[in-house]
Amino acid sequence: MKAIAVLTSGGDAPGMNAGIRATVRTALTCGLSVFGVKRGFQGLIEDDLNSMYSTDVSNILQRGGTILHSARSEEFRTAEGRIKAAENLRKRNIDGLIVLGGDGSFRGANDIHREHGTRVVGIPATIDNDIWGSDFTIGFDTAVNTALEAIDKVRDTAAAHDRLFIVEVMGRRAGFIALEVGIGAGAEEILIPETKTDIPEICRKLRNRYDNGRTSSILVVAEGDEEGNAYEIAKKIEIHSGMKSRVTVLGHVQRGGSPTAADRMLATKLGYGAIKALLDDAAPCMIGVEDGSISRHPLADAWTRKKELDKLLVQLSSGLE
Ligand code: F6P
Repeated sequence: MKAIAVLTSGGDAPGMNAGIRATVRTALTCGLSVFGVKRGFQGLIEDDLNSMYSTDVSNILQRGGTILHSARSEEFRTAEGRIKAAENLRKRNIDGLIVLGGDGSFRGANDIHREHGTRVVGIPATIDNDIWGSDFTIGFDTAVNTALEAIDKVRDTAAAHDRLFIVEVMGRRAGFIALEVGIGAGAEEILIPETKTDIPEICRKLRNRYDNGRTSSILVVAEGDEEGNAYEIAKKIEIHSGMKSRVTVLGHVQRGGSPTAADRMLATKLGYGAIKALLDDAAPCMIGVEDGSISRHPLADAWTRKKELDKLLVQLSSGLE
């Protein structure tokens, strides 16, 4: 192996830059040439690749976003798009591709491997934490802390006005962010897609707490909850109980900001692990960190196996509120 390329794909996640840095510097230390691809798979199709050197990744460890930019490429979903992408790697004699992203990006990586033999290694990077095979994904810890800080502030105004707030957090179809944020913020109710949301029961519990002296409440809802988004849930609660609420949708603020220490460590281990996997001829695979150690799994595990929520946290999500 002589040359590798690295790209970031899908929704950006804080810590991606730390992952790029670890990937580039480990590769250079191992004597490999490195190319950075702009805008994910779309940049690979459009031949937007540049050589990267150690100084290109100086002072990025602490920055959110991704210096390589990211995209969700429709063209890469087509066989024609992947032919162009593979050709752009081949003409530079690039024999390894590192993809930082979520399960959708790993599917794309697996496709180019199947059709063109590209040696790909996936690094799980998404705030959603919904990838099997790694205890955490890059960006999750930062997103949780960002949301927590925001909800602590919402709590102040909720208490001042004796109000019910419904706060929506990201996570796509998974409740990892909502569960940790809800517990960390002491939310009165946590609504996640993995457990049944019972609106009448939520109203009963809210009312009961008010009867016992509580004057304000916060509900944290995962964007993928089966009862709908925060506005829809607010409406259902009002119809059922007459209780009015304010809605806060945290949205993309959860994707930004300087990565936490945990995300920097995770990204650094994963970047290092990805290059070692390429050199060990273990590609195609996905790198994870499980119980502190670097692990390798088939790429397809990322979307065929379902990562479960921490059972203890699910249990603790009710009963302490
Ligand atoms: O996968 C990361 C994520 O932030 C999800 O939590 C969210 O549903 C989605 O991306 C939003 O995507 P976009 O930035 O394309 O609106």
